Amino acid sequence: MNENNKILKVENLTKMFGSKKLLAREMLKKGLSKNEVLKKTGVTVAVDNVSFEVRQGEIFVLIGLSGSGKSTVIRCLNMLQPPTSGKIYFEGDNIKNYSAKQLREFRRNKVSMVFQNFGLMSHRDVLSNAAYGLEIKGVSKKEREEKAMEIISMVGLSGWEGQSVLNLSGGMRQRVGIARALINNPDVLLMDEPFSALDPLVRREMQFELLSIQEKLNKTIVFITHDIDEAFKLGNNVAIMQDGKIIQTATPEEMMSNPSNSYVKEFTNSADKTHVYSVKNIMITPSCLAHSRNGAKNALKQMYDNGFSSVFVVGDKLRFVGILTLERALAVRNGELSFNDAVYTDVPTTQLETPVSDLIPIAAKSAFPIAVVDNDNRLKGLVTKAAVLASLS
Ligand SMILES: Nc1ncnc2c1ncn2[C@@H]1O[C@H](COP(=O)(O)OP(=O)(O)OP(=O)(O)O)[C@@H](O)[C@H]1O
Ligand SMILES: [Mg+2]
Repeated sequence: MNENNKILKVENLTKMFGSKKLLAREMLKKGLSKNEVLKKTGVTVAVDNVSFEVRQGEIFVLIGLSGSGKSTVIRCLNMLQPPTSGKIYFEGDNIKNYSAKQLREFRRNKVSMVFQNFGLMSHRDVLSNAAYGLEIKGVSKKEREEKAMEIISMVGLSGWEGQSVLNLSGGMRQRVGIARALINNPDVLLMDEPFSALDPLVRREMQFELLSIQEKLNKTIVFITHDIDEAFKLGNNVAIMQDGKIIQTATPEEMMSNPSNSYVKEFTNSADKTHVYSVKNIMITPSCLAHSRNGAKNALKQMYDNGFSSVFVVGDKLRFVGILTLERALAVRNGELSFNDAVYTDVPTTQLETPVSDLIPIAAKSAFPIAVVDNDNRLKGLVTKAAVLASLS
């Protein structure tokens, strides 16, 4: 992996709250637990010797129970809270060495934060909330509003710009929160449980929205959640925290298949099992089939009888040939195409044991249901796009 694409690097970050920090550190070294340290010294060890790296353009998720130190980590990343010890590098520079001016520039233009409680100004409308980051930089009203309108449209709020944020639903408020964070075109978004206050449907919508924005803008995102499904859905890499420590950093797949200890395993066990579902769990029997030897007329009848606009074409022993659409079948009937030329043969197929997660990119691109075949190319069933999508939620 190219070292240069690590936009953030955190080395041995520790953050303590309380005055007897030296004493607390000694105790930690001796192996005392966070709780024992707190009892004996009054010092809370919020983050304990944490290291991780974030690649440019990835979504890096921090997950853990309440009090495990997630928010403290993210607040150290923009120096909202200075680390007790350890180093944080942004694009190779130790941010502790920033001058006051550099730090201001870093916070204004390089990183932006999105909060669970939205952090909006309730007496202002959507437009001026979104434009705020440019306003404090002294950008002219015309310019900042133009820019804000662009971002408002990207987050799906066109038409709402004149509304007071008080009139918006939670999901819409968080769209404003994201717009506000994006206005300065930061490299990194720090998102502290941005969707936790939303109801599940809206939450899913916002997760999708974030992934689309991410695809468009290619931002680096550090995302906090305590929801493992959200972590696995969004994260390229996921770090799991317990008592101020990171106990495993891995891709969702690695974490599922290779949890580093029983705590991680318990966490991942509660996750949605898209990855372990295979095609055979969600396939259905094709109700509309046409044998290639029976020609276009029969295929058309099959489509009319079943109310479909395409049909799976099979040969002897149910060997999968391809898909014939209504349009093409009519062209055959009118003598414009031969049956063989009319059948689409370059269509995606899959096998019974393929994990459903592998089908997502195929289903997204394909205009047709996906044919399930065995090793001899015999048709076993089909998987609809809807079934693939449903298995995701
Ligand atoms: N300003 C502070 N002063 C004292 N202790 C603090 C402070 N901020 C956080 N802590 C303590 O540090 C620990 C980690 O807190 P933190 O807020 O980082 O956890 P979290 O993982 O974000 O939890 P949650 O899921 O509830 O948001 C907790 O024990 C918390 O009480
Ligand atoms: Mg928190």
